[in-house]
Amino acid sequence: MRTAVLASGRGSNFKALLEASKKEDLPIEIVAVGSDQPRAAALGLAKEFGIPTGVFSIRDYPQRQAQEEELLIWMRKHRVELLLLAGYMRVLGSEFIQQANFPILNIHPSLLPSFPGLHAQRQALEYGVKVSGCTVHFVDEGLDSGPIILQEAVPVLAEDTEDSLSQRILEAEHRLYPKAVRLLVSGCVRRVGRRVQILQQEGLE
Ligand code: GRF
Repeated sequence: MRTAVLASGRGSNFKALLEASKKEDLPIEIVAVGSDQPRAAALGLAKEFGIPTGVFSIRDYPQRQAQEEELLIWMRKHRVELLLLAGYMRVLGSEFIQQANFPILNIHPSLLPSFPGLHAQRQALEYGVKVSGCTVHFVDEGLDSGPIILQEAVPVLAEDTEDSLSQRILEAEHRLYPKAVRLLVSGCVRRVGRRVQILQQEGLE
């Protein structure tokens, strides 16, 4: 499945997806990596692997709509069939989502619907939850509010700092995102309204 990734930062989730796709346990081909940040490490990694990159910076596109129109054109040019957000720090507008004729997934570092938005790990610590984790979900027009595909819980330890909790959640993210994408591309994900059913298939956990 021809897949695009959008990332704004270091790109560790992109790396996990790329590695899984190279090991053939994830039947996707990452054909394009885009960012709103010209210096995103994810772009450098994509270039190392010869993957075409695109920069759609807010400086060049002060209007979100114009930026997203260009993104869509770029994705159509690459014949994208699946879009994975991996630390992409902008909320996609409803026109983009409506016009995209491919699924869009995101990963978020909390057990949604708790702690959407920025600094989810800090929010979890400040609230005092004993368990947090990560969520892979379809992207809809809200903030981290789309139908949930998979979640993994991560205990919050008494001695946790924002960094230590983020690090343990990130390790879970690197397992969970490829797993969710594998289920989707294997036809094991069925959306029924807000609920997502995972159909079991031999060979898949
Ligand atoms: C991850 O924690 C992800 O859940 C969130 O942004 C962070 C991106 O990290 N949406 P990376 O760039 O993939 O390392």
